[in-house]
Amino acid sequence: MAPRRQADILVVGGINTDFLVQGPRLPRAGEHVEGHLFLESLGGKGANAAVAASRLGARSTLLGRVGMDARGLALLEQLEGEGVETRAVSRDPGFSTGVVLEMVDESGRRQSLSAEGANRRLSVADVIAAEDRISGADVLLAQLAAVIAAVHIARAAGTHVVLDPAPPSTLPEELLEAVHVIRLNDAEAEVLTGLEVVDRDSARRAAENLLRRGVGTAVVAAPQGTLLLGTESELWLPNLPVDWVDTTGAGDAFSAALCVALGERRSLTDAARFAHATAALATMRLGALSGLPNRDQVVSFMARIDSLALSPEPVSW
Ligand SMILES: Nc1ncnc2c1ncn2[C@@H]1O[C@H](COP(=O)(O)OP(=O)(O)O)[C@@H](O)[C@H]1O
Ligand SMILES: [Mg+2]
Repeated sequence: MAPRRQADILVVGGINTDFLVQGPRLPRAGEHVEGHLFLESLGGKGANAAVAASRLGARSTLLGRVGMDARGLALLEQLEGEGVETRAVSRDPGFSTGVVLEMVDESGRRQSLSAEGANRRLSVADVIAAEDRISGADVLLAQLAAVIAAVHIARAAGTHVVLDPAPPSTLPEELLEAVHVIRLNDAEAEVLTGLEVVDRDSARRAAENLLRRGVGTAVVAAPQGTLLLGTESELWLPNLPVDWVDTTGAGDAFSAALCVALGERRSLTDAARFAHATAALATMRLGALSGLPNRDQVVSFMARIDSLALSPEPVSW
């Protein structure tokens, strides 16, 4: 078999420290509840996707901004330990590294409050400073709405553009016209299209709306599965049977895996299947980063899914 082509992925997105406490239930306003589990980890959609891409075997570069503080430095070291290239992460002297406080109850319901800090200060100048890396990449995964400059550089250089815009918001039409692939969860699709997404048919209507507005391919996650709609293809991927614990970060894992497979020059449907399996595995651990699978885990999971096609039993790994 020919050696696999290594994908080169450039992720533009947020970098945070996540402080997570799990307790018996979420507190009401003004209430204190004693929890039982504490996790501190590298987080932020950009960092998660960059780590996901690296674990899946890609060359992964992150473009973002952290503070000059000790947390920022620690996050950069952790990213490098994961094999993520961080030279395009700038450090802001006046704002602290982004932080998210998360509370999770036993059934996985969560509530969070963030201080975006240095993430909000990522500038067009930072993007232009990384122009060579963007132009040289196979795929740009953009996760901040303020990434139009990066998208333009990528388009001009022939770099594929995948957009995973969160949290739910409207986007400039100019940005929609410029992306090859947009990936949305149901809430994001609803805000962007005004159409409620509750199942496969409504996901298709939302995807059609996005295609009419210039998007190349739309990937919309509905509660029961994920729909991919391109100008010539439609694929419905029902949710895979896993013992899910926490879906946080699973969408980012999907986007990162899609980019990796596209960067390896695999077909869109092949890439979507790979991404779907990666997302399913990413739901099986609490915390976004700890759930991100490596390539071997995704490959063996896909083989098991194929062989278990007739079995409804949840899979564990
Ligand atoms: N059992 C499952 N099989 C496959 N994908 C799943 C499963 N459960 C959840 N997912 C995926 O998890 C993702 C969650 O996306 P999203 O809400 O954007 O998460 P985040 O932004 O935190 O990464 C969706 O793409 C959904 O399809
Ligand atoms: Mg998401």
